[in-house]
Amino acid sequence: MDREKVIVIDFGGQYNQLVARRVRECNVYCEIYSYRTPLDEIKAMKPAGIILTGGPNSVYEEGAATCSRELFELGVPVLGLCYGAQLMMHVLGGEVKRADDREYGKTKTYYDVSSLLFKGIGGADAQNAGDGMEPSMTVWMSHFDYISRMAEGFVAVAHTDNCPVAACENRSAGLYAIQFHPEVLHTEYGKEILYNFVRGICNCAGTWRMDSFVETQIKAIREKVGDGKVLCALSGGVDSSVAAVLLSKAIGKQLTCVFVDHGLLRKNEGDEVEAVFGPEGPYELNFIRVNAASRYYEKLSGVTEPEKKRKIIGEEFIRVFEEEAKKIGAVDYLVQGTIYPDVVESGLGGESAVIKSHHNVGGLPEHVDFKEIIEPLRDLFKDEVRRAGLELGIPEYLVFRQPFPGPGLGIRIIGDITGEKVRIVQDADAIYREEIAKAAEEWKKSAGIAGAEGLAPEATPQQRYEYYQGQNPEWMPDQYFAALSNMRSVGVMGDERTYDYAVVLRAVRTVDFMTAEACDIPWEVLQKVMSRIINEVRGVNRVIYDLTSKPPGTIEME
Ligand code: XMP
Repeated sequence: MDREKVIVIDFGGQYNQLVARRVRECNVYCEIYSYRTPLDEIKAMKPAGIILTGGPNSVYEEGAATCSRELFELGVPVLGLCYGAQLMMHVLGGEVKRADDREYGKTKTYYDVSSLLFKGIGGADAQNAGDGMEPSMTVWMSHFDYISRMAEGFVAVAHTDNCPVAACENRSAGLYAIQFHPEVLHTEYGKEILYNFVRGICNCAGTWRMDSFVETQIKAIREKVGDGKVLCALSGGVDSSVAAVLLSKAIGKQLTCVFVDHGLLRKNEGDEVEAVFGPEGPYELNFIRVNAASRYYEKLSGVTEPEKKRKIIGEEFIRVFEEEAKKIGAVDYLVQGTIYPDVVESGLGGESAVIKSHHNVGGLPEHVDFKEIIEPLRDLFKDEVRRAGLELGIPEYLVFRQPFPGPGLGIRIIGDITGEKVRIVQDADAIYREEIAKAAEEWKKSAGIAGAEGLAPEATPQQRYEYYQGQNPEWMPDQYFAALSNMRSVGVMGDERTYDYAVVLRAVRTVDFMTAEACDIPWEVLQKVMSRIINEVRGVNRVIYDLTSKPPGTIEME
C-alpha cells in the first residue's frame, strides 16, 4: 500500500524537523531527505507534495546546495521555504540578490487572499477585504538574500515593507515559494498556510493518525514476526515502553522484555517498571528484571572520569543483556526504540547530521543471537510516540515521563559513584519531583484548571494528549532533577558542625534539548525543596540551584 506522503527536502536549515512535524500535525505523513537524494528515488516515492527547506547558503555561492530543474517538473506541487523559495526562483530563471540589511524577526506581511496558500486565513474580514485593502499578518523572517525577480509564470502573493516577494506562486505549475518560515510558531497562521499546501494544494486526505498507526503496526508486526521470538531491552523510558506494548499487543508471549536495573535509576523506578510490565501488570509478555546494582557499583568503584563512567555503564549493560539473552537462546528479532529524530540526526534522513555524542545505553549487543532488528517507532516524532502510547493505554505517568539518560544517575553524581551517593541523589530527586508536582497542582487549582478529573472518561487519546499539553504553569521545566556535586562543605545542624555533600538542583526549559535555559521555578518552591532535602536526606547540608544555560553548560552534569 502506498502511504500518502509529503517529502521535505533538506537544504541544511535549522527548522527541517519542525517542517516535517507541522506537516504531520495536518495528519499527513512526511519524511525528510537530503537535497543530495537522486531525483529518481524521490520520484519512486510518489510524493503527494514536496517542500524545500531553508538553508545556510546563498543560491549563487559556488557549491551551494541545489536541486535540478526536473524536480519542479514532476507534476507534484512544490513549496519552497526561505532558501528553498530562493532556490526555486534561481533554478527556474528568476533572480536572487543580497539585500543591504538582513530582514530578521517578526515582520508585518501583506498577503493576497486569492492565493491558495492564504485561503481562509485571517477570518472573514481579511478574506472579504476590498480592492486596495491588503490584509496583513505577522510572520517570522530570517534572510539576507531576497527574490529580486521572479521566474517566469510566477506572481507575487505577499510582500513586506522591505521584501517585494514574501511569497509567490505559479498556480498552473503547482509551484509555491514563501520567503518567511510558516513552520515556526512566531508566524501567525503558519500552521494554516502549511495546511493549505498539504491538504488543499497537494490534495492529501489526511489519513495519518495515531490510531491507524497503531493498528497498522500491530498488523505489520504480526505478519513480519509470524511465530518467531522477539527480544526487547526495556528501559522504562517512553520509547522502549511504547515499543514493548506495541509488540506485546501484536505477538503476546512471543515477546520477552529484559529490564536491566543498573541501580542508577530514580527512586522506586525499578519497581514501577515491574508493576507495569511484570506478571502483575496488564500486558501479555515475558518480563525479566535483572537486579544488577551491586555489579555496577563494583565496576564503577573509584572511577571519576565522566567518559569512562559512561563507557563502563554502557558496556556493562551489554554484558548483562547478553547473559540474559544467552539464557533465552536464539531469537528472531531484537527490538530497538529508535525514533524518527534519531534517524534524521544520524544523517540517514536529512542534511543536518547533528553530532551527538550520547547514545542510548549500550548500543547494539554483538553476541546476541538474532536475525533482524525491528524498530516499530522509527517513523515517529516524540510527541507521536506519546500519542501512540496513550492510544495503547499505557499509564499517563509513563507516557509523559521526562527524559532520563541511559547512564542514569551515574552522570548526575559528579566523581565516583557509591551506593550511598546514589541513595542521596534518589531521595533528593524524589523530594524535588514531589514538590514540583505539588506546586503544579496548586497552580492548576488557583488557575481554575481541574486536575486529571477534568478529563472526560470517554476522551480519546488525542483529546487526552491535548489536555495534558495545556495543563502546566509557565515555569514548568521540560527536564529537572537533583544531582550530587562532589563537594562537601561545612554547615551547622542544631548545635553540631556538619561536613556534608551539596545537592544541585537543575531545571531547564528547552524545545529540542540542544539548547536550554535555566528555569525560573518560584522561589518559595525552591525553598521548600531545599528545606525538605536538608531535613530528610541524610548526608546533605547544602542545596545549590544551577543557573547555567546550554551552551555553555550541558543539561546533565557529566
Ligand atoms: P546534555 O547533558 O547533553 O543532555 O545537555 C541533553 C539531553 O540528552 C539526555 N542525555 C542522554 N540520554 N543517553 C541518553 O539516552 C545519554 O547518555 C545521555 N546523556 C544526556 C539528557 O538527559 C538531556 O535530556
